[in-house]
Formats: sequence, structure tokens, C-alpha cells
Amino acid sequence: MTSRITASSTQVIPATGDVPRHVAIIMDGNGRWAKKRFMPRVAGHSKGLEAVRAMVRACIERKIGYLTLFAFSSENWRRPVEEVTFLMNLFLKALQAEVGKLHANAVRLKVVGDLSAFDPRIVALIREGEARTSNNGVLTLTICANYGGRWDILQAMNQLALAHPEKAGVYGESDLTPHLAMSFAPEPDLFIRTGGEERISNFLLWQLAYSEFHFTDILWPDFDATALDAAIASYQTRERRFGRTSEQLLGESAVSPAPTCGFGELKNS
Ligand code: IPE
Ligand code: IPE
Ligand code: MG
Repeated sequence: MTSRITASSTQVIPATGDVPRHVAIIMDGNGRWAKKRFMPRVAGHSKGLEAVRAMVRACIERKIGYLTLFAFSSENWRRPVEEVTFLMNLFLKALQAEVGKLHANAVRLKVVGDLSAFDPRIVALIREGEARTSNNGVLTLTICANYGGRWDILQAMNQLALAHPEKAGVYGESDLTPHLAMSFAPEPDLFIRTGGEERISNFLLWQLAYSEFHFTDILWPDFDATALDAAIASYQTRERRFGRTSEQLLGESAVSPAPTCGFGELKNS
């Protein structure tokens, strides 16, 4: 019998018993955190920055290789102008204050999204921060800013069409993926959304195709290392099948020993 093989770009099965290699988080609930305390919404954003610092520390301690945080979506421009201005200033101040600390902790900083909409001072700080930390290997921290999953797929399509017009009509997944904004990272193993909503809100649409999802009611400013551990514990109970059956996976592990690095190749047959 001939097996039907599709060229899926999700080729590698990480073992879920390990810590996830890549955790991607929608940091939601800042406004509600503040409202509960009779504070202005923006106070929740300031508190949320503290939670970001704690999460970076927790990921380093747990040897998670990639942490990706949704900081500002392409739709967040629709918020009141005062809130958008506050968020932009917070981003600017965070870049000024945190890049040195990230570098001291060997964290590589990446910022992905349509940066053309940002103040040139912010763009300059992003570029400087990325360049300064580019050789660090402990953790890759990616901030998604003015990011949208639809924007990402479209910009990748446009880059690909310009680079290879002769292949139009026969583009495959592996032609597109190098042009996606997060081509430097493996696909997220664990996706977390805080704040109780259970939706993707135009986050990493392509890259989350086979991620394990964890939704929690905890508001982002309250999300700490203990909450991260609960998400990881949930992740560790999952069986990632990538289209196959449980029996096939059991059969595979009987033939091939558990890979020492925690990652095994998904064979296309
Ligand atoms: C997430 O918190 C932060 C950003 C979107 C910038 P929210 O500001 O969305 O908080 P809620 O969802 O209104 O509580
Ligand atoms: C998603 O949160 C975007 C970020 C966390 C940056 P939102 O609060 O903007 O999402 P919706 O509008 O409730 O879907
Ligand atoms: Mg929200």
C-alpha cells in the first residue's frame, strides 16, 4: 500500500516528558488586574512588565530555550490613544533598562512584527539590543510587537514571491517557512494564554499548528514561576501525535531508543 505523504513543515517531534523547548505566551489580563484594584488599566501594564522579568528568570532556570511573548498585536492600535501611548513609552523604557540585564544573563533578544509603525527611537533601541545580544545562547527571548499572524504569513508570501517568482503556483511549506518572522526558532511546543480568554487573537497562526495549548484564568501580572510549572506539568502529560496514532508512536519508541537530546525525527513513512 502506498502511504500518502504530505510535505508538512512540522517534522520534528519533541519528547513531551522534557521541558518544552519553546514556550509562547499571550500575556493577557493586565487591564482586568488593574481594574480589580481600582487602578487605571495602564497600571496593569507596568505590573505586567514585572511578570515578564520573572518569566525570563524562570525560563532560564528551567533551561527553556525559547520564550516568545505577545506584547502588542496589530489590532491593539484600536485601543484608546492614551493607552497606546503608554504602552509605547513602556516599551521604550523597558528597552533602555532591560537590554543590559538580558545581555548579562546571556539572553538573546529578538523583536518581531511590523516595526515600520514604531517611533524611530524604539526601532533603533530594538536593532541595538538585537545586535548586542545576538551571540547569546542561554535563552532566546522574542517580543512580538505590532505582530499579527496574518501579517506574518502575508509578508512571508510577498518575500517568497519576490525571491522566487518562477516558482509561483508550486510553492511548498519549506519554501515559505524561511521567510516567516520566527524562522530562527523551532515551532512553539507549549502555548499559554493567561487572562481566561480561549482564543489565538491573531498570534502565531502558522507556527502554532501543532503546539500544545494551556489556558489559565490567572491574569498576566499574577502569572509566576509556580503558574509556569503548572502549565509545564500539564504539557508533560500530553501525547503529541502529529497525525499519527498512539500505537504508531509506541511502536516507534520500541524500535528507536529515546533520543538523548529529547528530540526525535518524525519520519515521513
Ligand atoms: C494584555 O492585557 C496586554 C496587551 C494587550 C498589551 P490587556 O490590556 O488586554 O488586559 P485585559 O484583557 O483588558 O484585562
Ligand atoms: C492579545 O490580547 C494581544 C496581546 C496580549 C498583546 P488582547 O487583549 O488584545 O486580545 P483580544 O482583543 O481580547 O482578543
Ligand atoms: Mg486583553
